[in-house]
Amino acid sequence: MRISVVGTGHVGLTTAACLAHIGHDVLGVDDDAEKAASIARGEVPFHEPGLAELVREGLDAGRLRMSNDPREAAPHGEVVFVCVGTPTKDSGEANLVQVERVARMVADTLDGYTVVAEKSTVPVETGQWIRRTIEREARAGAEFDVASNPEFLREGRAVQDTLRPDRVVVGSHSPRAVERLREVYRPIVDGAGCPFVVTDLATAELIKHASNAFLATKISFINSVADICERTGADVETVAAAMGIDERIGAPFLKAGIGFGGECLPKDVRAFRYKADQLGVGFGILEAVERVNQARIDAFVEKIRGVVWNLEDKRVALWGLAFKPDTDDLRHSPALEVAERLVGGGAHVTAFDPVAMPAGKPLLPGVEFAADPYEAVRGADCLAICTEWSVFATADLERLRGELAHPVVVDGRNVMDPAAMAEAGFTYASMGRPTVGPAPHAG
Ligand code: UGA
Repeated sequence: MRISVVGTGHVGLTTAACLAHIGHDVLGVDDDAEKAASIARGEVPFHEPGLAELVREGLDAGRLRMSNDPREAAPHGEVVFVCVGTPTKDSGEANLVQVERVARMVADTLDGYTVVAEKSTVPVETGQWIRRTIEREARAGAEFDVASNPEFLREGRAVQDTLRPDRVVVGSHSPRAVERLREVYRPIVDGAGCPFVVTDLATAELIKHASNAFLATKISFINSVADICERTGADVETVAAAMGIDERIGAPFLKAGIGFGGECLPKDVRAFRYKADQLGVGFGILEAVERVNQARIDAFVEKIRGVVWNLEDKRVALWGLAFKPDTDDLRHSPALEVAERLVGGGAHVTAFDPVAMPAGKPLLPGVEFAADPYEAVRGADCLAICTEWSVFATADLERLRGELAHPVVVDGRNVMDPAAMAEAGFTYASMGRPTVGPAPHAG
């Protein structure tokens, strides 16, 4: 099928490459000419495992082409996927200007029956606005339908999540649109053996916001439990594991730490709460979810203070900048805030991240950067771990201890095993677990 994908962020580019991979004729559109051209050369503008290979495959096979002219999207696509950004305004409201711009451009260039599928994460009722906008602006008799087709991929696992999703959700009042999207997804749904969930427009939009808000709620919930564990000597990892065995609860997203970041969960919790307020529904849980998440940074920085005493003149090594492993995305990364607080408190911070340093350097002018994890800790009073990259979990503890000025580790992601850390002679503080090892010495 001929498909256009407007927007080349994580969702857009992964969608385009995966749909080309399963045999569709895909036009990727980004009005940033330089970006479109570099993707057309096979360059992926962010770190996403496996995506560059799929983009290259699509380009070589001629099933993926790029354009910087949004006016080509509707004439090419039997389905136009809208994957543009929906950033947050200061109020928390989602900014839908780019979505409206695409709707107007589609209206202006419609050519034959077209399904306009919103994939950008948008508040409920956005689809109605897209439909009204196109109805108002398209020439009389233009044939189109609007559908909501929310995306659930995670950064760092985007390709795998897209090709083997847990479910595909399509919301539309039009059976014709639903059937067209069913065709688009048939190879994926058959391959993954996953449900193809058909709903109305508003329900599909809500499924997305409710899913992300619920994931964030799980994280803040377990982080509050972690605080109770710390005050009572209990171990949050064991609490979470035993809770997760209950299939009504489920194990994923019960990992305590320095909180959720990234472009999606923080933004979506705010936007969902804003929309609920607007509809007269007090969604107080989400206010608490945000509050708990923000307090994680304070708690972590306090934990560091607890082991180094004053921050002034201390050397703190920071492992991990990305908001989670397998991405170079720093948007709303808790690690950035931790680094800024430490520098603001007078500490000398040396950071290492396996892929996010090029993106991090311009954002953290007061921070030094090291070529590898061991260089980062050389002579440091303490190591703070902010992202659970596997290279940190498998670090050589002997070497780590040898490089640090004092064997003190504060682990914001519970990457290390406390027993192994104590055995190796570290003072080791983590999240929601008892601190182990000898009492720390100030530097
Ligand atoms: C999230 C959702 O998981 C995806 O389903 C959704 O499609 C995506 O947003 C989106 O709306 O585009 P993503 O932002 O890639 O995906 O990241 P997550 O894997 O959800 O992690 C978010 C943050 O929560 C990270 O900072 C991670 O470290 C943190 N987290 C996650 C925890 O602190 N504990 C956990 O148990 C899980």
